[in-house]
Amino acid sequence: MIDWYEPDEDSYTLLDVLADERIRDKTVVDLGSSTGFLAQGLRGNIVVSVDLNMKALRHHTGGNLVRADLLGPIKQQAVDVVVFNPPYVPDTDDPVIGGGMRGRRVIDRFIDSVDVKVFYLLVIEVNRPMEVMECLRQRGYETTVCRVRKILGETIYVLRGEKQIP
Ligand SMILES: C[S@@+](CC[C@H](N)C(=O)[O-])C[C@H]1O[C@@H](n2cnc3c(N)ncnc32)[C@H](O)[C@@H]1O
Repeated sequence: MIDWYEPDEDSYTLLDVLADERIRDKTVVDLGSSTGFLAQGLRGNIVVSVDLNMKALRHHTGGNLVRADLLGPIKQQAVDVVVFNPPYVPDTDDPVIGGGMRGRRVIDRFIDSVDVKVFYLLVIEVNRPMEVMECLRQRGYETTVCRVRKILGETIYVLRGEKQIP
């Protein structure tokens, strides 16, 4: 088991997307922040960093830190954007990276509980991105693929979800 997550190709991909999206003057939750790598792509916003892993938060470089399971204690109506690079690795339950079967254990819980206006969610091919998008559509989100990046042995997708007004 690793103590906390260090930035990797997935982190860099999501950071690139955030730079392109030019998110400014928003209240943003960096969910699964680890030590705060993605915060550099969120300058100009109010950022709340949430992670379940206390060791990561102790080494976090920013402020507004919340130890929580997903968005549990967060008042989602007060949040503009959530950014989430989840634990997506299949067939492991490692609390830092493990997503259990098809890597969907935490992703599916996020889908079932998200209620913000806009989010960016990173998934990989084995998580079945199209199925994830369909689940999000059923939850009232229009979802687009912002970025697809092939890395060694894996394909990363960054999805953007926007809540549809009923
Ligand atoms: C793939 S890492 C991403 C780290 C960082 N955001 C990045 O992009 O480099 C996943 C992060 O999610 C955190 N995490 C796992 N399960 C969580 C949960 N239920 N609620 C909040 N954070 C969780 C892990 O501790 C880990 O820091």
